[in-house]
Amino acid sequence: MTQKTARLHIQRAIAGAAAHTEVFEVPFEPGNSVLDGLRWIRATQDPSLAIRFSCINANACKECMLELDGKVVYACTQRLRAGDMHLAPLANKALVQDLVTEIAPRDERLLD
Ligand code: FES
Repeated sequence: MTQKTARLHIQRAIAGAAAHTEVFEVPFEPGNSVLDGLRWIRATQDPSLAIRFSCINANACKECMLELDGKVVYACTQRLRAGDMHLAPLANKALVQDLVTEIAPRDERLLD
């Protein structure tokens, strides 16, 4: 199988702090998802990268939503591609950290 490389530009920040961008070179095979790439980064490059997911690829939990090149996508269904990909947290939700935003409705949160 041919392995390619995606260059993920990831916007990172802790809530309330200024954001910065970090770039990761992610090897992948055709069919790998953006979520696969983010999990690879956490496993091999930087375990502090904050991401959220539950179902991995069923598009059921909706917890992996983020912005890819300015469009809202599910990281588990979006495929990696060779070259530059820009990832950011959802712009219309409160930031928790890195690619994790507060997506639960206010009345469903255990903590405020
Ligand atoms: S990980 Fe559940 S919808 Fe993407």
